[in-house]
Amino acid sequence: MARRKMIYEGKAKILYEGPEPGTFVQYFKDDATAFNAQKKDVIDGKGVLNNRLSEFFMKGLTNIGIPTHFLKRLNMREQLIRSAEIVPLEVIVRNFAAGTMSNRLGIEEGTPLPRPIVEFSYKDDALGDPLVTEEYIIAFGWASQQDLDDIIALALRVNDFMSGVMYGVGIKLVDFKIEVGRVWDNDFMRLIIADEISPDSCRLWDMETGRKLDKDVFRRDLGNLADAYTEVARRLGVLPSNVTHTPKPTIIN
Ligand code: C5P
Repeated sequence: MARRKMIYEGKAKILYEGPEPGTFVQYFKDDATAFNAQKKDVIDGKGVLNNRLSEFFMKGLTNIGIPTHFLKRLNMREQLIRSAEIVPLEVIVRNFAAGTMSNRLGIEEGTPLPRPIVEFSYKDDALGDPLVTEEYIIAFGWASQQDLDDIIALALRVNDFMSGVMYGVGIKLVDFKIEVGRVWDNDFMRLIIADEISPDSCRLWDMETGRKLDKDVFRRDLGNLADAYTEVARRLGVLPSNVTHTPKPTIIN
């Protein structure tokens, strides 16, 4: 079989040409990166978990009428997605202060925010994805005012869905990042949720213990990342309840 054409390799995923026009295959790698790839590691099984978890969240969004790029999961590490023109923004929604918001404003992590706050970063690794205002976005033509209004509405719907799903399994959704793409149905443009939704792109805290179940485990050296993601998947019923993350066999001399 001819090798598939690679379209793009990112930090955690690879995009290949799909089987039909207008589709891509999204491959989830085991690579973990943080601080704009200054910290790197390979976490056995992370790609498999994120493929399953992103499928779970995207299907859930589809079921409540929020359009996404997800078409179907192909295997352990790959899913078929709809190609979309990615809006060059990281859309972040925060329910509680954490991470860069806490650092920037000196607000203690975990402080509830008066309302969900949506913020935008310009997607550019070389610049470290700088925070930008709506004025910048419109002035530089990254999105129109109408797009932005729609993106904020979409992001808040995703927040309500994700917060509810996580609350149901005893997890607090502190914040998350989504990416949005444009697709055309003839002349009609629609915005859809693209990229991935997984513990790589969310902050998830156990409601009782405060245990972190997201990429901060890697960023802050708090333990085994795959164990944390397995716990999220297990609680959501994405993995059978008796599965624990089993590392590769170790050769004992
Ligand atoms: O680092 P910061 O506090 O701004 O991150 C807010 C949320 O966005 C976190 O859930 C983080 O995992 C996510 N994020 C991401 N990709 C980035 C930046 C942030 O998924 N490049």
